[in-house]
Amino acid sequence: MRRSLWCSIGISLALVALSASLHASWRKPVKARNGMVVAAESLAAQAGVDVLKSGGNAIDAAVAVGFALSVTFPEAGNIGGGGFMLIRLANGRSTMIDFREKAPAKASRTMYLDHAGNVIPGKSEYGPISAGVPGSVAGLLYALEKYGTMPRARVIEPAAALAEKGFVVSERFAAGLKESHREFSGFLSTIKTFTKNGVPYDVGDLFRQPDLARTLRLISEKGRDGFYAGDVAQKIVAEVRKSSGIISLEDLANYRPVERKPLLGSYRGYEIITASPPSGGGVVLLQMLNMLEPFDLKSKGHNSSQTIHLFVAAAQRAYADRSEFLGDPDFVAMPIEKLISKEYARLRIKSLDTVHGVASAKIHPGKGEFDRGQTTHFCVADKFGNVVAVTTTLNGLYGCKTVVGGAGFFLNNEMDDFAIKPGVPNMYGLLGAEANAIAPNKRMLSSMTPTILLKDGKPVLALGARGGSRIPTAVATIIMNVIDFGMNILDAVESPRIHHQWLPDTLVYETNGLAHDVAEHLRHMGYVLEQTTFTNGKAEALMIDPIAGFFYGGPDPREEGVALGY
Ligand code: DON
Repeated sequence: MRRSLWCSIGISLALVALSASLHASWRKPVKARNGMVVAAESLAAQAGVDVLKSGGNAIDAAVAVGFALSVTFPEAGNIGGGGFMLIRLANGRSTMIDFREKAPAKASRTMYLDHAGNVIPGKSEYGPISAGVPGSVAGLLYALEKYGTMPRARVIEPAAALAEKGFVVSERFAAGLKESHREFSGFLSTIKTFTKNGVPYDVGDLFRQPDLARTLRLISEKGRDGFYAGDVAQKIVAEVRKSSGIISLEDLANYRPVERKPLLGSYRGYEIITASPPSGGGVVLLQMLNMLEPFDLKSKGHNSSQTIHLFVAAAQRAYADRSEFLGDPDFVAMPIEKLISKEYARLRIKSLDTVHGVASAKIHPGKGEFDRGQTTHFCVADKFGNVVAVTTTLNGLYGCKTVVGGAGFFLNNEMDDFAIKPGVPNMYGLLGAEANAIAPNKRMLSSMTPTILLKDGKPVLALGARGGSRIPTAVATIIMNVIDFGMNILDAVESPRIHHQWLPDTLVYETNGLAHDVAEHLRHMGYVLEQTTFTNGKAEALMIDPIAGFFYGGPDPREEGVALGY
């Protein structure tokens, strides 16, 4: 246990609740009567709203947004990655479509280690050897066929048209391309597709993707066979082989999304529907909220040292459990029911030291900053009562940096989400054990946490985030901001967030995210504080007032999030 300075000199002022001033922006959330899309990029959000306006349901719109993001937000929106779609249908049923990538059949536990058993730096992050078998196309099409109402062409064509006609390069997009330029240079196909003859695109340039337009139209025409068989599949395998990758035609043909039961929990009278494994996000979220529920956070204050102390205590315990127990449910048995029970939370938080920060058992260094990754979350709600929350990812910025030559899309580098060696943190500083070891055809553990909340049986909140390991704490914070601190959805998303993930044992806060006296007090309690130069996740959320019949959008200003309704 770490001893704080104050403790050692016998002064205990920990019960003084120091508090950062309550964040309140004067902007109002976007409000709409008939439906809403909240996403990280406006052209893709528009594609979704257009679908809603023309009579489609939230699932149709979500699929349209998903495909459009692969064009307009190619650093994360994808057809070469994977994700989770959480659906709460108007008829009261909830389901989750797991389209997480899988390890290729030729994957092995030691594939990222050298002969001496050491991790080969970068091998699980760069190039097609770091890619899992993509799941996005299969997942989006499965959702459309089972729960949508529109033909494939109606939801894919807007994306294909955006790829063909092009769009104007924004500041965000130009910055991402510049940042990755050096890493693109290892792959001719990437240089060809994502640079102007080797020079990075500038803000204001028109960016066209004819290869991607062709791929999207093949998917539109042939369904999953337009991607997992034939020309595109052959191009994927050819590109992968150029760099000694191992994804085969059989891996692609065999890929299937899995429909799973979401996890169910509750927090102060709200029902929570959230992602189940192979995402660990929902487990961590429910564990944290269960541990926090017995405490009156409202009286302790928003972002006060006492509230943060409790939040960190809950996070340390939940993330420690994640590292030990969680993995792909098709491969490992997990004590999920126990982990997310109120009884377990009560026992787990019993060891809380109300005065001091408690050191996480061992300190392992993370790999620097964790926000180089790329994931994106979007939410859709329609006038029929359906709500969809989707988080999808390539893992790192532009995934493994390899564009499939002639097909126009990036492959993911999701294999790094496995525990590539026990005790070695992944790019988000997360540790894993046997449960998340690499095995052929296994899904790697995720932190993605698409979540929907109900009150009196009606959906009231849909949210999720990007940010790797910081996703579950971002989602937990926004839920607390709404329920405990009564914020509107915009304030709840915007307000500064803190993060802790057990190991590395640091309390990470955003720029200007903690009042000086709160930070000082936390240091005296024994915490190691670190101000991130990035963010604690980037979230997109929407709220529904079922009585007045309005939707409210909470896009995250940490990215160029937009809420569009009608
Ligand atoms: O599935 C996961 O947990 C990670 N691959 C997510 C990565 C991520 O959120 C990066 N975003 N900024």
